[in-house]
Amino acid sequence: MNDHYRAFFGLAKEPFTTDITCADILKTPELLDVKVRFDYVTRLGAIGIVTGEVGSGKSTAVRYAMDTLHPSEYRALYITASSGSMMEFYRQLRDALNIYLSSNSKTVMVKTIKKEIVNLVLEKKQKVVLIVDEASLMRLEVFTELHTLCQFEQDAKPWLPMILVGQTSLVDKLTFRSSQPLASRIIAKCHLEGVDLAGMETYLRHHLAIAGVERNLFDPSSVIAIHQGSGGLFRKSNHLARGGLIAAAAEQSKIVSAEHIRLAATEIF
Ligand SMILES: Nc1ncnc2c1ncn2[C@@H]1O[C@H](COP(=O)(O)OP(=O)(O)OP(=O)(O)O)[C@@H](O)[C@H]1O
Ligand SMILES: [Mg+2]
Repeated sequence: MNDHYRAFFGLAKEPFTTDITCADILKTPELLDVKVRFDYVTRLGAIGIVTGEVGSGKSTAVRYAMDTLHPSEYRALYITASSGSMMEFYRQLRDALNIYLSSNSKTVMVKTIKKEIVNLVLEKKQKVVLIVDEASLMRLEVFTELHTLCQFEQDAKPWLPMILVGQTSLVDKLTFRSSQPLASRIIAKCHLEGVDLAGMETYLRHHLAIAGVERNLFDPSSVIAIHQGSGGLFRKSNHLARGGLIAAAAEQSKIVSAEHIRLAATEIF
């Protein structure tokens, strides 16, 4: 599909994209809730979780919370989890800490990672926070062992707060008995759902403004269609909204209708 629709609507750039800057993130009440809990967990050195539907804005909310941390004071370590082993997790953490380590021994790996965290906290006077995105993908064996990473000085020093981000199945994995030591350290939870109709209208206008258009291009019926079609979830509404703009431009219509959204819906899952 070509980008003629951009010229047709006077859009300065591709609208409804994933690569929005932190400044352009819409500060929804839910996103601000995530930030409050993120800061609380970081302050107390505990564990927090952010769950939600696919495309509800979890990673964006956490990115926003990370961005508000002062870089001279904080060191945020961001990992996208996989379904790999605990050793794989440690390797990712090693890379996030920029540690060069040739040894493949787990004991050496854990010792080196912890030493570096102690160094950051005590020598460099930084507060460290570990963010694990897609944590619902992690194997149960990782849930069983993960809490040991937060244990410093016989578990007396809360030097590695963690934020686990993932789909609702993250909660299921945390309810296993073997995950109890980890789950017992959780002090804050956030769950992101789809926004309501008014929230969707604000969202659509916000993304149009990011792309340089201040006037509303979506008629009320199209906002309802996007809201219903996406369940209020942001990623899906991005696809429907962009597709609706393309369909409207193809018909030389200066306003997007519910019919244009229905056409767009045939292209996506
Ligand atoms: N607060 C926001 N302001 C502006 N756009 C947003 C916001 N939250 C989400 N989006 C848009 O929705 C898209 C999906 O959001 P995000 O990737 O954060 O969802 P997610 O819940 O992490 O999804 P997944 O379950 O696939 O990991 C983003 O790429 C962005 O375009
Ligand atoms: Mg995500």
